[in-house]
Amino acid sequence: MTTLIRGGHIITASDDYIGDILIEGEVVKQIGTNLDVLADKVIDASGKLVIPGSIDPHTHMELPFGGTYSSDDFKTGTIAAAHGGTTTIVDFAVQGKGQTLQEGLDTWHAKANGKCAIDYGFHLICTDFGDDDAPLLHKIMDEEGVSSFKLFMAYPGVFLMDDATIYRVMKAAGPKGGITMIHAENGIVINEIIKETLAEGNTAPRYHALSRPPAAEAEGVHRAIAMSELAKAPVYIVHVSCSEALDEIKAARDKGLPVYGETCTQYLTLDVSCYDEEGFDGFAGAKYVMTPPIRSSSNHQPLWNGLKNGSLELVSTDHCPFFLKGQKELGRGDFTKIPNGGPGVEPRLAVVYDGAMKHGFSLNKWVELTSTAAAKRFGMYPRKGTIAIGSDADIVVFDPEKPVTWGTEREHMNTDYSLFEGMQTKGDVETVLLRGKVIIEDGQYLGTPGEGQFLKRGATAS
Ligand code: URP
Ligand code: ZN
Ligand code: ZN
Repeated sequence: MTTLIRGGHIITASDDYIGDILIEGEVVKQIGTNLDVLADKVIDASGKLVIPGSIDPHTHMELPFGGTYSSDDFKTGTIAAAHGGTTTIVDFAVQGKGQTLQEGLDTWHAKANGKCAIDYGFHLICTDFGDDDAPLLHKIMDEEGVSSFKLFMAYPGVFLMDDATIYRVMKAAGPKGGITMIHAENGIVINEIIKETLAEGNTAPRYHALSRPPAAEAEGVHRAIAMSELAKAPVYIVHVSCSEALDEIKAARDKGLPVYGETCTQYLTLDVSCYDEEGFDGFAGAKYVMTPPIRSSSNHQPLWNGLKNGSLELVSTDHCPFFLKGQKELGRGDFTKIPNGGPGVEPRLAVVYDGAMKHGFSLNKWVELTSTAAAKRFGMYPRKGTIAIGSDADIVVFDPEKPVTWGTEREHMNTDYSLFEGMQTKGDVETVLLRGKVIIEDGQYLGTPGEGQFLKRGATAS
């Protein structure tokens, strides 16, 4: 099967030109202008942007949390991702309590196998890592293609790991080209603030945000960076939400330390006033209960600046949806029982496009933030994250002018609300190809769940 994408405005992280792309089978075969070739299918991309398939390196499909599971499984979540122009996700496998690292990974393979609409890889959340476990981690890297490991400083009694464990994982992963990802919030102190908050009778969703102040996130980031310096290993800070945390990353990078960070669509666009949203019997703010919480809008510009100047290297989603009815509701009367997370895997590419254009980013930088940087950081480049001869033909044809109104009516994620209900942006996904096959056209999913392949990833970028 051959496909010709004709006359599009081709954008990669480094290139910007009008051209044609010939795809043969699953890969890009030829790139040029006015290619004189016959193809089985021709896509007219004139007036459109043609970009590498988007990569979301932070999703949680079917994550057990707070007595329930995130509501997208690997089928529904990856179809929704495809609608939004994402052709690869890296989801977080969890080493359950009492499980080995390998067993955690096997559990996630069983969840995802045969279900995915797009390609996928796994990071591994470590919940137990002893003095002698480095060889097990190295085996996971060498044989399983999993080269990134997440540890939590938050959620005591569930995911929280002590500093010694974090340091051990850093020391094990770093020298082999692996990277440690940190959920950086001081969960121990946050728990004290939560106790005080509840004792004062404050149980509504807005107290989730008030009990997790920016200083708790900044402290976690500072400590993670110090440990990475001590371990002489790189660290990647996930879901950076505020300028205080960003400042710690910037200071470390200015010293030349291998410290990297991501932010998420919601931290660039939503405001803490969302927790006071009316409706659902005074509980609508639960939609936005995620960790870290949504901050004040004064953080938006610093986060965009951080993306522009390289302090932050990409935008992910932390996609972790729950239904408001029946799931978030578990926390009515006690905000600590609201499952943490929100739906985001679908709107990211277009919402970031809109924001990036408004903040004066180049098209190249938009592609870097939503695709290329993740491919490089997490060992998938150049198979993923670019349009080049021999690369997987994961390609999005994007209409830069089309207006979008976000909301449940147009979104496909398996939940009953949208984080961005009513928000208007410019620029929309038109056609999506996964390894040469059109899987989204005119808003319709044309693929077959299960054709998404597991990606064995290599070492992290240095
Ligand atoms: O609220 C969130 N972020 N839920 C998912 C788990 C995590 O901390 O990434
Ligand atoms: Zn996290
Ligand atoms: Zn997460």
